Amino acid sequence: MVGKFLNLKLILVLLFTVFILVIISLGSVFPNASNQGYTPTQPIAFSHKIHVGTNKIGCMYCHTGAERSRHATVPALSICMNCHRVVGLDKPDVQRLLKNFQEKKPIEWIRVHELADYVYFPHKRHVKVGVACEICHGDVKNMDVIEQYAPLTMGWCIDCHRGITTPKQLLSRLKPKEDHYKEVCPTHCTACHN
Ligand code: HEC
Ligand code: HEC
Ligand code: HEC
Ligand code: HEC
Ligand code: HEC
Repeated sequence: MVGKFLNLKLILVLLFTVFILVIISLGSVFPNASNQGYTPTQPIAFSHKIHVGTNKIGCMYCHTGAERSRHATVPALSICMNCHRVVGLDKPDVQRLLKNFQEKKPIEWIRVHELADYVYFPHKRHVKVGVACEICHGDVKNMDVIEQYAPLTMGWCIDCHRGITTPKQLLSRLKPKEDHYKEVCPTHCTACHN
């Protein structure tokens, strides 16, 4: 009798463990749609706070693609070298930067923001019309480590395109409307999925 009960308990414990494992693995098959708050550790401790906040270097100095093309792009080492041939040479991370440059090895930055392949997001269109970087990327000038500030979900895009979360000054420039909930930018599926 005692043995039978022990077996039953054992089976229950096993079933429970399997159940938990299934839940955990389902979580990784269907990851959270949003990586909001994602802050990977980068191979070189690059700080936006030091560069943009303290030294007032504009975003476009490094992210030249933002107003010209679909991708804002992360700068090549040669851009860093405009300053770091002479600046900060006592810092270990700057020395590593120089070593990579001499060996012609690019820095393997880990991507922070990444939409699924089936979404089309053009930086240029947004930047040209005056959507500030900070609206989508947060207070970058005060970030030592960059993070994904916005959810980047479909709902987040659409809410701005429909005029719900669109910044006021932008809204008046796009299409002044009585009804706040009329779309101000395209919301048809093929605008973002093609
Ligand atoms: C001196 C060059 C430099 C300047 C100026 C600069 N950045 Fe960056 N930015 C980088 C580098 C290098 C990376 C990649 C390393 C990292 O993620 O920290 C990066 C990464 C980013 C990312 C994340 C990219 C990804 O992988 O998703 C965003 C967003 C970003 N920068 C926005 C901005 C904004 C907004 C400004 C202006 C307020 C700005 N940056 C100014 C060099 C710069
Ligand atoms: C309307 C929202 C929005 C605005 C405005 C915006 N970004 Fe982005 N940014 C995104 C999204 C969404 C991604 C991810 C794109 C992808 O995965 O294709 C991204 C990605 C990036 C990246 C990673 C590399 C790349 O091109 O994918 C950098 C760097 C970046 N943004 C910098 C900037 C800078 C600098 C500005 C301002 C000049 C800016 N962004 C304005 C939404 C925005
Ligand atoms: C326009 C000039 C300029 C450019 C371009 C520039 N930096 Fe800097 N960087 C600075 C200054 C100024 C400092 C502060 C140096 C100090 O405190 O001694 C700095 C500091 C640093 C540090 C040291 C941080 C610390 O305190 O340990 C690193 C790492 C760094 N930069 C990486 C980069 C990378 C990577 C790029 C290219 C994407 C880049 N920088 C482009 C001017 C620049
Ligand atoms: C803060 C507001 C805002 C957010 C957030 C935003 N957009 Fe936009 N988007 C705009 C504005 C404003 C325009 C109109 C630009 C113009 O009129 O040239 C636009 C235009 C576009 C266009 C061009 C449409 C066309 O065919 O004319 C695409 C594509 C687009 N956005 C995709 C996205 C995607 C994908 C996201 C989310 C990842 C996103 N947007 C998030 C404000 C936003
Ligand atoms: C303004 C841009 C935009 C428009 C318009 C848009 N989508 Fe999306 N859609 C997105 C983004 C961003 C994602 C999320 C991508 C990611 O998670 O990386 C997405 C994700 C999806 C997904 C994947 C499932 C999910 O919820 O993540 C489906 C399916 C989808 N969209 C269908 C549609 C349909 C149907 C329409 C038209 C009614 C539409 N989309 C209009 C931007 C848009």
